[in-house]
Amino acid sequence: MKILVTGGLGFIGSHTVVALQNKDYEVVVIDNLSNSSLKVLEGITNITSKTPEFHKLDLRDKSSLLDFFAKHQDISGIIHFAASKAVGESVENPLLYYENNLAALTYLLQNLVNLTEQNIIFSSSCTVYGEASELPISESAPVKKAMSPYGNTKQVGEEIISDTCAAYDNLKAISLRYFNPIGSHPTNEIGELPIGTPQNLVPFITQTAIGKRKELSVFGDDYPTQDGTCIRDYIHVMDLAEAHVVALERIMSSKTEENFEVFNVGTGIGSSVLEVVKAFENASGENLNYKIVGRRPGDVIAAYADTKKANMTLGWKAKRSLEEALKDAWEWEKSQAKARV
Ligand SMILES: NC(=O)c1ccc[n+]([C@@H]2O[C@H](COP(=O)([O-])OP(=O)(O)OC[C@H]3O[C@@H](n4cnc5c(N)ncnc54)[C@H](O)[C@@H]3O)[C@@H](O)[C@H]2O)c1
Repeated sequence: MKILVTGGLGFIGSHTVVALQNKDYEVVVIDNLSNSSLKVLEGITNITSKTPEFHKLDLRDKSSLLDFFAKHQDISGIIHFAASKAVGESVENPLLYYENNLAALTYLLQNLVNLTEQNIIFSSSCTVYGEASELPISESAPVKKAMSPYGNTKQVGEEIISDTCAAYDNLKAISLRYFNPIGSHPTNEIGELPIGTPQNLVPFITQTAIGKRKELSVFGDDYPTQDGTCIRDYIHVMDLAEAHVVALERIMSSKTEENFEVFNVGTGIGSSVLEVVKAFENASGENLNYKIVGRRPGDVIAAYADTKKANMTLGWKAKRSLEEALKDAWEWEKSQAKARV
């Protein structure tokens, strides 16, 4: 079966292409390379011994997208990763985010509803829950007003898909609300490639340990948590990638109970920033240089997933530990440093 992966050369997309090819799906990738490079295609090929069909295409380019679908009527499912994802940049340039994350989604759906098989998996985020009043966070927790244009694109993106599902009987969609993806493929062929200063904890940790950054700033140690630092649910990117394959199989085998379904994708385990630092030191054998600084605006205190629905209904469970993910992230960082020399 032919699966279209948009943003398939990005961090999560590339790992999902590997997971799909490992299960013998025929993969077609669309990516405009705005946050990735063709080298990733080589990495995917080295891991799976297969090169996915690749189209350098910008999803905002309506006529190229139309041409693409005219030639690919036999697509059985779409996994839609392509989006801009930097929270800070979205505050400075909201229109870029609304265009890239929402206009592009609309164009994609316009083409999808003309296909015979109308199945789509959407990359959403736990940011839709904001500061949840109950932990762990279940899918029935209310969606709170987004704290950034980026977060808003995930909420509105889900609404656009849900409204479209209500209007088109054959359209089936699953929105996966990711918690915090980290790590990389254990072969070191593909991994996370943050541009500029990483906004996420783990790339910042590995870049500090390798000497690219002087020290890690821990934003706030006065939160109401066991050690005062924020708590998140860190999930290995390969576990997340495999969740997409399971979701796709659910949707394509008509097992969905509603045309639009939502699942949390996390481990269910909350780890504080200082716990992650300790786990990284154990996994890598390195001592991490870090300092405590003031809180960062917009950070929620704690977010970790209630995974019951994903476990029971979707039939998926994260298998890899935090230590394993940190070890893979560290090996990836070291391999990148070697490649730079
Ligand atoms: N990484 C996270 O922490 C996280 C958490 C929650 C949700 N998400 C969502 O998951 C998805 C994938 O995230 P990621 O971390 O892999 O990001 P990424 O930036 O590594 O990958 C996105 C890919 O999409 C491509 N792209 C962007 N705009 C495009 C366009 N208009 N046309 C074609 N290609 C385009 C980029 O070049 C890139 O390769 C995004 O939708 C993101 O919002 C990510």
